[in-house]
This record gives sequence, C-alpha cells and structure tokens, in this order.
Amino acid sequence: MSIKKSLSSRRSYYDINRQMPISNEQIVSTVKELTELVPDAFNMKSSRILTVLSDKQDQFWDLVYDVFGGKVSHEKLDGFKAGAGTILYFYDNAIVEEMQKQFPRYAENFPGWALQSSGMLQISIWSALRELGVGASLQHYNPVIDEAVHRLYDLPESWKLIAEMPYGGIGSEPDPKELEDISKRVRIA
Ligand SMILES: Cc1cc2nc3c(=O)[nH]c(=O)nc-3n(C[C@H](O)[C@H](O)[C@H](O)COP(=O)(O)O)c2cc1C
Repeated sequence: MSIKKSLSSRRSYYDINRQMPISNEQIVSTVKELTELVPDAFNMKSSRILTVLSDKQDQFWDLVYDVFGGKVSHEKLDGFKAGAGTILYFYDNAIVEEMQKQFPRYAENFPGWALQSSGMLQISIWSALRELGVGASLQHYNPVIDEAVHRLYDLPESWKLIAEMPYGGIGSEPDPKELEDISKRVRIA
C-alpha cells in the first residue's frame, strides 16, 4: 500500500471489538518491525513500547478506571476495553539524559526529539494496523495513570508514558472527514 493510501485509511476507530483479522503474533511482529524502522534524533533509539495483549486488556482498562476513581465514565473506557489490546508508548528518559550529557549544546532539544520520534512511531503503527484491517485510536490518560502502570508492569522508572493506543477489530467506520481549504495551512514560497 502507498503511504498516501495508508494514511488516508487510518482513522480514529472508537467502535472496536475482539474479532481480530490477524493474530497476536502479527501484532507483536508489526510493532517490533516498526520500532526498528522509525528514525530517532542522533539515532538515540529512545522509543519504548509495551503491548498489552488480549487477556491483559481488561486488567489495563480496569486500572485506568480505578485510578480515575470514577471521574472518567465507565461507558467511555468500556469502548476502549472492548478492543483486543492496547499499545502503550513511552520514551526512555535515561537515554535522553545520556544524550544531553554527551551533546550539551543540544540538551534542551532531546526531550522534544524523543516525543517527535514517538509520534512518528505512533502514526506508523496506527497506519500499519489499519492496513492489516485493525482499527485503533490514540488516548492520553497519562500522566494520571503513570505510577499505576509502572507498578503493574514493573517498568523502569526512566520510561515516560506518552500515549495509549487501544486497537481491535473494526465494528464500524467513522464518518468521512470534512475537507478543508489546505492552502490555509500549506504555503508555497
Ligand atoms: C497527538 C495526538 C493526540 C491525540 N489525543 C487524543 C486523545 O487523547 N483522545 C482521543 O480520542 N483522540 C486523540 N487524538 C485523535 C485525534 O482527535 C484525531 O486523530 C483527529 O480528530 C482526526 O481524526 P482521525 O484520527 O479520524 O483522522 C489525538 C491525535 C493526536 C495526533
């Protein structure tokens, strides 16, 4: 699939389920492959991923519900929990700090670069999943859930949570996007 076709097929899928067109192994191999392929500033390899697969899916979203103490509706979180899994995106702050020491003149750029690289990885995985017939959306319950997530999965303290991507079989397609006047956003010199 061309990159344009892939990006136009990718949408935020909120109606997801556990009828998956591909196996957990294919999810894992796709995530690993793209994590290798996506670039990073100075090739620092700062992105980290935790893939929460099928039988752990309920536990993760119940944790989000509990941490928010009912302040996020069950109905909303149940929509994400209905999916087949969730990909958690992190960057490793230990790498960022090491790079800051090595390249002090660029020190203040490294945290932003780590986020940019994670964004590249997020869009790559989001699009690749859709190519495989899997719908996903991007959620941000961090930083509220950070401590509980670290505790549950025993993660290194230096892993900073950036985003949560619940995915699953596609229940329904979102409404088509509204077209805009793109010349307001893209200028030509
Ligand atoms: C950096 C970023 C943060 C986002 N955060 C959220 C979020 O917290 N919750 C959510 O439902 N969607 C989130 N989205 C999804 C956007 O709202 C969505 O991509 C946008 O409205 C366009 O719709 P589409 O994904 O169907 O093309 C986020 C998207 C990006 C790129």
